[in-house]
Amino acid sequence: MPSKVSCLYILTVVCWASALWYLSGSRSTSYTYVGHMSIPIRKTVKPHKNLTFTNIRTRPLNPHTFEYLINEPKKCESVTPFLVILISTTHKEFDARQAIRETWGDESTFTDVRILTVFLLGRNTDEVLNQMVEQESQIFHDIVMENFIDSYHNLTLKTLMGMRWVATFCPKAQYVMKTDSDIFVNMDNLIYKLLKPSTKPRRRYFTGYVINGGPIRDMRSKWYMSRDLYPESKYPPFCSGTGYVFSADVAELIYKTSLHTRLLHLEDVYVGLCLHKLGIHPYQNSGFNHWKMAYSLCRYRRVITVHQIPPEEMHRIWNDMSSKKHLRC
Ligand SMILES: *[C@@H]1O[C@H](CO)[C@@H](O)[C@H](O)[C@H]1NC(C)=O
Ligand SMILES: *[C@@H]1O[C@H](CO)[C@@H](O)[C@H](O)[C@H]1NC(C)=O
Repeated sequence: MPSKVSCLYILTVVCWASALWYLSGSRSTSYTYVGHMSIPIRKTVKPHKNLTFTNIRTRPLNPHTFEYLINEPKKCESVTPFLVILISTTHKEFDARQAIRETWGDESTFTDVRILTVFLLGRNTDEVLNQMVEQESQIFHDIVMENFIDSYHNLTLKTLMGMRWVATFCPKAQYVMKTDSDIFVNMDNLIYKLLKPSTKPRRRYFTGYVINGGPIRDMRSKWYMSRDLYPESKYPPFCSGTGYVFSADVAELIYKTSLHTRLLHLEDVYVGLCLHKLGIHPYQNSGFNHWKMAYSLCRYRRVITVHQIPPEEMHRIWNDMSSKKHLRC
């Protein structure tokens, strides 16, 4: 019994000491373990007692140090957008990007509110694809790319890049939506029913399809999360990454919080963790569908997002809805 207690004691002290050592910012001062109980170990960490938030902030857990390979720093200079739409996409999805530009992501659809569409990409390991995207960017000027490897596992970096971009180059925007390239967005509902341009802009606002869940420990799952990375059994509430909307002030808050939050590859879970740290509670909105839904005019008129829409279908749905605006359901 006593040996158990002292073991625990040593472990606690060692952990505590190494945590302090890590946070203290002076890696050169080595902590020497003197394997003897009677030596007051606590004394050796006394010089590092000067712990402030500044110390912690100077050593980010998750420094986002990627430079922009493609940027549109002036996109927001002459306009203050009501809504910036960030679309997570991959290099080969040329058709999907074009379909979005020509349908719901068309920046010229609305005359009373200004919307901006921005596609988010990382760097591909295939240089040819990077060059093709570079050319696409010179035509449309709606692509932002940072220098991290574009992969499913790096989706969180893509979202954080978008948050950082809004905070840096578009801080006066009112709202931001983050969505994927296979999502249909009912912009009329999003803008006029949900965000309501004529009302006072909200702050610290976040909404989408809220999920209250916990980590999946089955390694075969797409959403597998190891106990090492996330030991707790529940996630804070998070919005499905297929589409969520927030007031633009939240972009900077999430980006800054992420610098001190251990990175997780599940981007929507990770954003939820940052929101939890910030004390921002996401609102549930059943208009955000994160599953596929067969097209019907009246059904699609009621939603904000629908998942799994290939490019051809995007055009078909958009054309049908646009040409039947006069019809009642
Ligand atoms: C603690 O840190 C602050 C800010 O870095 C410094 O000004 C102060 O002198 C330090 N105090 C001690 C006791 O080291
Ligand atoms: C994510 O991006 C970083 C930075 O480019 C890279 O080192 C890492 O290998 C990428 N991870 C995956 C799983 O692709």
